[in-house]
Amino acid sequence: MVNLSSFSPIHFLFYSLVISLSSTIICGGIETDHEALLKIKSLITRDPYGALTSWNDSLRLCDWSHVYCGKRHRRVTIIDLSSQGLEGSLSPHVGNLSFLRTLSLGNNSFQGAIPQEVGRLSRLCRLYLYQNKFNEVIPTNISGCFNIEAIVLSNNELVGSIPKEISSLTKLSFLSLFHNKLTGGIPTILGNVTSLELFSVSDNELVGSIPKEFSSLTKLTFLSLFNNKLTGGIPPYLGNMTSLEVFSLKGNPLGGTCDNRHKTGN
Ligand SMILES: *[C@@H]1O[C@H](CO)[C@@H](O)[C@H](O)[C@H]1NC(C)=O
Ligand SMILES: *[C@@H]1O[C@H](CO)[C@@H](O)[C@H](O)[C@H]1NC(C)=O
Ligand SMILES: *[C@@H]1O[C@H](CO)[C@@H](O)[C@H](O)[C@H]1NC(C)=O
Ligand SMILES: *[C@@H]1O[C@H](CO)[C@@H](O)[C@H](O)[C@H]1NC(C)=O
Ligand SMILES: *[C@@H]1O[C@H](CO)[C@@H](O)[C@H](O)[C@H]1NC(C)=O
Ligand SMILES: *[C@@H]1O[C@H](CO)[C@@H](O)[C@H](O)[C@H]1NC(C)=O
Repeated sequence: MVNLSSFSPIHFLFYSLVISLSSTIICGGIETDHEALLKIKSLITRDPYGALTSWNDSLRLCDWSHVYCGKRHRRVTIIDLSSQGLEGSLSPHVGNLSFLRTLSLGNNSFQGAIPQEVGRLSRLCRLYLYQNKFNEVIPTNISGCFNIEAIVLSNNELVGSIPKEISSLTKLSFLSLFHNKLTGGIPTILGNVTSLELFSVSDNELVGSIPKEFSSLTKLTFLSLFNNKLTGGIPPYLGNMTSLEVFSLKGNPLGGTCDNRHKTGN
């Protein structure tokens, strides 16, 4: 039994304040997620398998399909809409899903820009946007995703250069950008991303040479550079990179055929 007589008006005020504050914080968060998902849905123009049918108010947001929430805070942590035949563009509201850890939209037909707002997702670990029709630049603000481990943007139509801002992502281990229309050089500063294990930029229009700074990438196991316009010779230090298992340079002016060690698919 609660002894009501020990509940002074001050206590009562205090507890009502705590309760109303915490409920606005939680509600505010969920409402932002709710709004963001509906905005994302509103820019999807084709949904042949009804992947987003359940994204409506007859169900609670955490019960919507392809959406996963954290157990404790009930905020959206994963969106997995890969291979759903979706067409449309990606709403900048995605940047409001502040608890998002995985965004997986691979193998659909999203086009237009990857919004700069993605850079507001400071908890994001995995960004899978491969095999779509994104056709603008890689957002420089991606450097705001400082927890990111995998950026997979391969098989799109991205233009412009590889943003040097990526160099500040200290947890990044997978950077896959193959088969786009990227131009410019490979930023030497990427030699600072010592967490990198996979770097694939094959099938682009990159020029310049392989930065000697890559010799610092001691965890690199997969380095794929084929079908670009790289020049400047094969850096001698590559032979010293003991972690390297797959290395492909075919189809570059410098390369001839020098697939070392393993054949690569990509
Ligand atoms: C809302 O979602 C439920 C559950 O998936 C579905 O049965 C219903 O048809 C949806 N309503 C609309 C209007 O799409
Ligand atoms: C891509 O998505 C389509 C459905 O739209 C599916 O049939 C196909 O198997 C998927 N491909 C891959 C490689 O996952
Ligand atoms: C969400 O994002 C949009 C566009 O980035 C912004 O205009 C809006 O104010 C944001 N906040 C909320 C709470 O929806
Ligand atoms: C991009 O990042 C800059 C610097 O952090 C910030 O001022 C700007 O608002 C960001 N843009 C978007 C669209 O989030
Ligand atoms: C790259 O890393 C080195 C060693 O940690 C550091 O001294 C340097 O300032 C970094 N460069 C940039 C441009 O961040
Ligand atoms: C490769 O490693 C050996 C032994 O540590 C060293 O003497 C040599 O200078 C290195 N070569 C390059 C190109 O880094």
